[in-house]
Amino acid sequence: MPLLKFSRRQFAKIQFSKILGWSTLGMSGATAARRADAQAALPRESRTAPPGFPNGFLWGTATSAYQIEGAVNEDGRGPSIWDLFTHQPGTISDRSTGDTADDHYHRYKEDVQLMKALGAKAYRFSIAWPRVFPDGTGTPNPKGLDFYNRLLDELSANGIEPFATLYHWDLPQALQTRFGGWTSRDTSKAFADYAAYVAGRLSDRVKHFFTINECSRTVSLGHEYGSDAPGLKLPRVELNQVRHHIALGHGLAVQAIRAHAHAGTKVGPAENAVSCIPAIDTPANIRAAEIAMRELNAGYLTVMLEGKYTDAYLAQAGADAPKFTPEDLRIISSPVDFVGLNVYMPDHYVVAADNISGFTLAPFPASFPHMDAPWLRFGPETMYWTPRHVAKLWNVKSIYITENGTSGTDQPAADGSISDLDRVMYLRNYLAQLQRATAEGVPVHGYFLWSLLDNFEWSDGLEKRFGLYRVDFDTQRRTPRLSASFYRETIARNAIV
Ligand code: BGC
Repeated sequence: MPLLKFSRRQFAKIQFSKILGWSTLGMSGATAARRADAQAALPRESRTAPPGFPNGFLWGTATSAYQIEGAVNEDGRGPSIWDLFTHQPGTISDRSTGDTADDHYHRYKEDVQLMKALGAKAYRFSIAWPRVFPDGTGTPNPKGLDFYNRLLDELSANGIEPFATLYHWDLPQALQTRFGGWTSRDTSKAFADYAAYVAGRLSDRVKHFFTINECSRTVSLGHEYGSDAPGLKLPRVELNQVRHHIALGHGLAVQAIRAHAHAGTKVGPAENAVSCIPAIDTPANIRAAEIAMRELNAGYLTVMLEGKYTDAYLAQAGADAPKFTPEDLRIISSPVDFVGLNVYMPDHYVVAADNISGFTLAPFPASFPHMDAPWLRFGPETMYWTPRHVAKLWNVKSIYITENGTSGTDQPAADGSISDLDRVMYLRNYLAQLQRATAEGVPVHGYFLWSLLDNFEWSDGLEKRFGLYRVDFDTQRRTPRLSASFYRETIARNAIV
């Protein structure tokens, strides 16, 4: 299957906006600039902020199972949709797979030491569903869970708090074969059973669970464009149903965790919300950006936190709207304890408009800056606005930044040092905006940098490197980059260096 030439994530989000019918601004750059000047003259809120992050702010790193573990055939693990997908020709740019990846399954102790060397206090990892239930449902595989028991014990011995994601896209292939995966609500139910089982056994040590990582990407890239597993290109009516079943899976898992975990266990989603930034910070644009944020996340955070699909979402979907019951909506909106946000780049800059939606989306000029990948636009202010909008729109009292980071193309120097100045620049600017948010009282309680180490970057294979530690995939040697020092210093001071 041909690979998408540009931003898988950006493309998906643009398409979602298009599906919802939001137009981009139809004005010339000069007109836009004139309007921007006029708006900039309006009163702005104060941005003065004391330095540093709040006391007790939780610094961590993040990874996911298929991207680092390897050992895909060990200890009774069943195949996942990603195992099948990566072994199909034409799916992964460098033809690599996650068969070995970082060999973390065998090197987890060494990797915990890498976290410790950073001074990180928390670690977000994912549990591979096919290790625990090789057939998706039915008889659990105790050896699968044992790996996570070993990992948790190692983290605890090193003073690192675990945050576990239950689903980071590695659906047991058996469920794809048997039910058609997320096209069926049987998969939502199977997910809840798996969540109940894991929570019952790990919540003595795991106090925070994330249900599903990035529902939106798994819907769009997995089921609409086919560039992620399971590689489907479904018509809109089926796609909307998949989106609904994934949201339902989230809600059922929240309920299952409440019913089976130790008292005090907390749960929430980890979503890459479509980020909507006021193009210029006028009160009118800020309000328009909030409206856009709610509408463009209608099938994900909005329904999870409000218990209804917006009128505009249902109107746009028309006859292709998902089939659901009031009970489904009640389940999807089961109360959560926090919202996890994966924040990488600005999706949209928003301008207030006198139209039915109340906003327009400013088009990006070709010269808009981006990092190593074309989709990874450099717009640090998204790290301020995304959590701020989420807190305000839905009265969310606790937010974690569950992923943030960038890939880069550095090479080790002759002396072995790795000068990833682009990553340091990116992190410094994004963290400054996060600090602006926390200083203004936006309730962000922790930050997980993506990623601890280079890993299998989905359809980009091993070519896109996001790690604080460089990995030589031939020798599995891990080497800290300059950004590892930057992050260690930031953690030590609880302030940006
Ligand atoms: C995903 C990660 C991925 C990262 C960088 C997120 O969409 O959750 O698995 O590696 O972005 O692309």
